[in-house]
Amino acid sequence: MVTDREARGVYDPPMDESGKPDYTSLDLPPAPDDRPYVLTNMVMSADGKVVIEGTERGLGSIVDQRLMRELRNNADVVVNGASTLRTSGASPRVRDDDLVALREARGKSRHPIGAVLSGSGDLPLDGVFFTGDDFDAVVYLTEQTPAERREAILATGRDAIVLGGDVVPAMLLHMRRELGAEVVLVEGGPSMNGELFRRGLVDEYFLTLGPVVVGGNGTLSAVAGPDAPTLDTVSRMEIVSAVGNPESSELYLRYRRLGFGALGR
Ligand SMILES: NC(=O)c1ccc[n+]([C@@H]2O[C@H](COP(=O)([O-])OP(=O)(O)OC[C@H]3O[C@@H](n4cnc5c(N)ncnc54)[C@H](OP(=O)(O)O)[C@@H]3O)[C@@H](O)[C@H]2O)c1
Repeated sequence: MVTDREARGVYDPPMDESGKPDYTSLDLPPAPDDRPYVLTNMVMSADGKVVIEGTERGLGSIVDQRLMRELRNNADVVVNGASTLRTSGASPRVRDDDLVALREARGKSRHPIGAVLSGSGDLPLDGVFFTGDDFDAVVYLTEQTPAERREAILATGRDAIVLGGDVVPAMLLHMRRELGAEVVLVEGGPSMNGELFRRGLVDEYFLTLGPVVVGGNGTLSAVAGPDAPTLDTVSRMEIVSAVGNPESSELYLRYRRLGFGALGR
């Protein structure tokens, strides 16, 4: 008999010996024609904050960091907003030998393609995103980006794509059509996440809830944006899996998109 949980696709994910779910090889639906399937991953404190002293460092355990790399293992592209690249120096590497071997066995590149979205073009050109020679990377800019900044980016050897119109869907379209990406992993930050959630473009949201309370007024939460949210604009999700880890005291949550509008209306 099919249980209600099974009928709704809620499942108990495969676990490994470290007490966490195994995200190395997710069974994901096919990508639409005009964008990759979109995963978003964040680590957040128990009071809903994603930054301490200006970065995410200190929020997640080594188990959470491994999970992040397992999620990368599923992705063709890993993308950040420019502010995260400036503060955290992001790279798309999966790092662990077992994950690299899995990717190679599937005929994929050793690491996903790195991507960043920036309007200003003000990026750390001496950072690993630009100097790393073991992964490909692309910079998405807008028509407002100063030409000299674009030239400087191109001089690093990285591709720089200028997007017109509605920039975020245009970026996803480029990933799908020009990079052949079927899965993109968005690793924040909150502004980038907000752009995607507002347009209903996040298919799955992976959230690690850490056993720490940060406090502070105005500290960033996982999703930001300029608009005043209303009950009609909130993004609704359903839970796919929730796993508690007694070792790290973290909770690993996986949600799937449902649509817009508040619960119970
Ligand atoms: N806890 C976590 O899991 C986690 C994960 C990631 C990041 N973080 C933290 O989040 C903070 C950064 O987040 P954030 O929300 O400030 O910034 P963000 O989302 O990382 O980046 C925002 C920037 O992306 C570019 N951008 C986004 N949408 C754009 C659009 N439609 N058109 C053109 N450019 C666009 C702009 O770059 P330009 O300014 O260059 O124009 C914008 O300022 C950092 O402190 C980081 O440590 C935490």
